Amino acid sequence: MRINDNVYYVGVNDRTKHRFEGLWPLPYGVSYNSYLIVDHDAVALVDTVDVAFFGEYIDKIKTVIADRPIDYLIINHMEPDHSGSIALIRKYYPGIKLVGNKKTMQMVQGFYDATADDDVCVADGDTLTLGHHELKFYLTPMLHWPETMMTFDTTNGTLFSGDAFGCFGALNGHVIDTQMEVAPYWAEMERYYACILGKFGAPVQAGLKKLANVPVKMICSTHGPVWTELIPQAITTYQRLATGQTEKGLVVCYGSMYGNTARMAEAVCEGAAEAGMKKIVVHNLSVSDISQVLADIFRYKALAIGSPTYNGGLFPVVDDLMRRLAGRNVGQHELALFGGFTWSSQAVKAMEAYNEKIKMHLVASPVEWKQGVTGNDLQSARQLGRMLAEQCNNMA
Ligand code: FEO
Repeated sequence: MRINDNVYYVGVNDRTKHRFEGLWPLPYGVSYNSYLIVDHDAVALVDTVDVAFFGEYIDKIKTVIADRPIDYLIINHMEPDHSGSIALIRKYYPGIKLVGNKKTMQMVQGFYDATADDDVCVADGDTLTLGHHELKFYLTPMLHWPETMMTFDTTNGTLFSGDAFGCFGALNGHVIDTQMEVAPYWAEMERYYACILGKFGAPVQAGLKKLANVPVKMICSTHGPVWTELIPQAITTYQRLATGQTEKGLVVCYGSMYGNTARMAEAVCEGAAEAGMKKIVVHNLSVSDISQVLADIFRYKALAIGSPTYNGGLFPVVDDLMRRLAGRNVGQHELALFGGFTWSSQAVKAMEAYNEKIKMHLVASPVEWKQGVTGNDLQSARQLGRMLAEQCNNMA
């Protein structure tokens, strides 16, 4: 599929995998994007695909270039959803030269034992000419791995961006943003960011800064649509998520065994609603998908978390959420905590300990109850909800 003068899309869709990275659900699948630049002097392949799709992939490549050899494989990112076919591509095209930076080459050797003496090791700002097309390499470490780089085609303004500006969601026939119903991909972009890049806000910002003056006309990411007219929206979305910008709204997350913590969560919601909060999202963590929970937390300013004490600590699904938050840069949020116990108070202490790392602003002292919740406990929970809403009402 031609997307731009001599640039072709040769990626594949994965509608089989249940969980990306073994962790994140894929209700709409995912695409592994790869691109061919067919120039008069040389052919370059940009990234590969998950090796499970190699048969389909090589057919797509052959459909574009028939028996012409590929001269270069540009490796922007080594995570195996993109690097998985490197060793087989090298076997199909023995004359191919791999193009990557020093860290890329170490990983190619470590993962696939597939480097060669005439591979091309590039540094930040280096260029490679294919004839008409000139490629310029921008090293963008930790976006998403240390070796990550982007490749800019200076001839036509196409940026091959690796995972950046990517999203979950397979491509349903169309590849380019202007030709498809793009709305579902924005939500999948937020979920993708929260799950995959949520830890790397600072490197994402550094990458965006590096690209600020690059005249990009088309973004070819490794996942999801090719961005053209909607480049500003894709960049704004990544910028917003990387800088922790939030909107007015409350996410209430809880775990509950016998309904006491659940009742407190309902009371938090009621208090927030009474104080004028319109957008309230509730997640029973024993039921909700954690990827959506994280995406909602990235989006909204206020967060309430409730947990019973369980085996001398936090209820496991709440512990899991807080551990994931501690490993991400979700930005500054207004936080309220509520927790219960039967004979030994541990949940609130454990949540407070996590927040020492997460560093959200506690709107009030945590609300704690022993055994069954009382009317007073529910009033305290309503007050937490009101305070969260009031903090949001003060947002600029
Ligand atoms: Fe799509 Fe970090 O790989």
